[in-house]
This record gives sequence, structure tokens and C-alpha cells, in this order.
Amino acid sequence: MTTSLLSPAIEAYTALHTTPETSVLAALNRETNLKRGDAVMLSGHVQGAVLQMLSNMIAPHHILEIGTYTGYSAICLAQGLQPNGHLHTIEVDEELEDIAASYITEAGLRTAITQHIGAAADIIPTIDTSFDLVFIDADKSNYELYYDLVFPKVPIGGYIIADNVLYDGEVVLPAAAQSKNARAMIAFNEKVSADARVQHLLLAVRDGLMIVRKVAE
Ligand SMILES: C[S@@+](CC[C@H](N)C(=O)[O-])C[C@H]1O[C@@H](n2cnc3c(N)ncnc32)[C@H](O)[C@@H]1O
Repeated sequence: MTTSLLSPAIEAYTALHTTPETSVLAALNRETNLKRGDAVMLSGHVQGAVLQMLSNMIAPHHILEIGTYTGYSAICLAQGLQPNGHLHTIEVDEELEDIAASYITEAGLRTAITQHIGAAADIIPTIDTSFDLVFIDADKSNYELYYDLVFPKVPIGGYIIADNVLYDGEVVLPAAAQSKNARAMIAFNEKVSADARVQHLLLAVRDGLMIVRKVAE
């Protein structure tokens, strides 16, 4: 996983010309980086702005996020919710619940976001809602499973967005140089590309976002 496939100069220029993080997101970003050795997992300023912009454009009633981590992307995605809309987010690591909860509250989103703790494959079938927008950002080996689980819950015209689909550029390396996660991303990208029920765009932002629009059941 990487923070960017762009040169540092272009990355800095891009960030400079993107709406700055709110004070809450900046504090969450800072605390995650101070306290966690795996802070590269956090979406961050520019990708967070992309997610917020997409959510604003889609204006969803219901969002599902798979992979809360410390709550950064959940807070970004929730900005686009319709009034009284709701975001469900799933995280397997219970130690992350409190930090995510505190920043969700600080962002004024406590009633708009439900945090689920547990394995996504177990929890997704228990949420009896359809989702205009799904963000997949958890264990790479299960992306295909998550896609299949959420697909019936997304209405025609709804969106599924998946993160890390370029996997630090490994997806274009020779097979012998690819990690297990990169091979999982290749399989996921091929599955989406072969799916006649969707339009799809691989957006080369940060570590790669696959944007899928459902056009048929
Ligand atoms: C890349 S991080 C998510 C980052 C977050 N979406 C953001 O942008 O700030 C992936 C998260 O998925 C969680 N995860 C891994 N396997 C999972 C599973 N089976 N079910 C739910 N969450 C899982 C990890 O614990 C980790 O916190």
C-alpha cells in the first residue's frame, strides 16, 4: 500500500490546490500518525477530498463502508449524505472503535454514522438496507466476496468504490514480483471489468480507486 503513485512535487501541488482538511480531519490524521504504525492505511487529505466530492455528487441516502480504521474516510463520505441519511461502517479491530467514535462525534456525525465491530462478511448480510454508495477498503483477499455481498443491496444507478486497486503499482509488475494482495486486486479488477452489469472507471488517485456504477441487476 502506498500514499501516492505521483511524484512528491505533483503530490504536493495537488494537495495545495485541494480544499484543506477540516480541523477535525487534520487532528484525526495527526493522532493516527502519532499513535499508529500503520497510518498509511488512512485515506488522507486528497483521497478524502475525492471521496467527499464523489459523495457530494452522488448525494446518497445510505452509505456502507467496509474498513473504518480510525474513521477518516467515514467522516469524508458522510459529508455527502442527504439530510437524515445514514452511513454504516464496519471494522474488525475493536481497538479502533473509540478513536473513530471520538472523531465521528467531534465532526458532529454521531447520529449519522453507525459503527459495526466484527468481520465484514458476517455483518454485511445483517444490515437490512440498500446502499446508494459502498466503499470497500478492508482486507484485499475478500474484495471479490464483498462485491458479491453488496451488489444485490445496491440499486441500479448506485455506486461501489474500491480502494487500493493499483496496490502500490504491483498490479503491473511481472507475476513473480506480485504480493498475494496485489494478485487479489488483479482478480478484483478483472472481475469488475468482466461484469456487464456495471460501468467502471479505474481512477489512478493515490493507490487506485475503482469506481463502479451499477446499470443492471
Ligand atoms: C485501509 S484500512 C481502512 C482505512 C479507512 N477506510 C480510511 O480511509 O481511513 C482497512 C481496515 O479494514 C479493517 N479490516 C480488515 N479486515 C477486515 C474484515 N474482515 N472486516 C472488517 N474490517 C476489516 C482493518 O482492521 C483496517 O482498519
